[in-house]
Amino acid sequence: MVDCVALPDHLSPSQLDGKIAVVIDILRATTTIVEMLTHGASCVVPVASVDGARIIAQDRPDALLCGERSGTPPEGFHCGNSPLEYTPDRVAGKACVISTTNGTRALHMCDHAHRVLIGSITNIQGLCAVLADDARDVALVCSGTDGQVSLEDCIGAGLIIEQLGYSATDNAALLMHAARGAIERFGGVRYAIESSFHAKRLIDLGFGDDIAFASQPDTRSMVPEFDPAIGEIHPV
Ligand code: MLT
Repeated sequence: MVDCVALPDHLSPSQLDGKIAVVIDILRATTTIVEMLTHGASCVVPVASVDGARIIAQDRPDALLCGERSGTPPEGFHCGNSPLEYTPDRVAGKACVISTTNGTRALHMCDHAHRVLIGSITNIQGLCAVLADDARDVALVCSGTDGQVSLEDCIGAGLIIEQLGYSATDNAALLMHAARGAIERFGGVRYAIESSFHAKRLIDLGFGDDIAFASQPDTRSMVPEFDPAIGEIHPV
């Protein structure tokens, strides 16, 4: 069975019990985490607050301090939240300590699930293969944008639900049909995502290339998994 919430704040206290949570922040946190590990980061450390990330990074000589507030890197951060920034020469062997407005918050809100995986449009096939190897029910958790449901996360969730082919709760079925409708209405995944509120904000900030990148299905086989006990994300 696959379930879905359009915002982490919509989770009921027991909704993730015994399930695999898949956290989705298409623009851009989860797409970026997939890139960090694809290009050789030793691990990713998701942190909810900017100050918390600064403190954790101070204690790790191998740390790269990454993330955003309002789309750009906070003061003193080495890198932002663009997936295109995380090239092998920048990231290989580093622990990426990342804090973003919505994505890292959503990850921590799922830390009581049986497992926590990271989903993006770029890793759908690999993600679905990992899910299919584990008999547990799945709950997709969209991160949203500043407490509002975001179209791009719903499209990502809908594509994952479609590919998984599990029986779906009404929430999941609704998101899947809405995502398919938006993709058809706009003439493709990328164009549908470009129509979203947050995509327009990113385009205004000069991050239009991130949207094209994040909209491409299955460019990566990497499936990251968050281990809340140690606070790190590693490849499955
Ligand atoms: C977030 O976590 O809110 C985002 O990934 C924002 C962004 O950098 O686009």
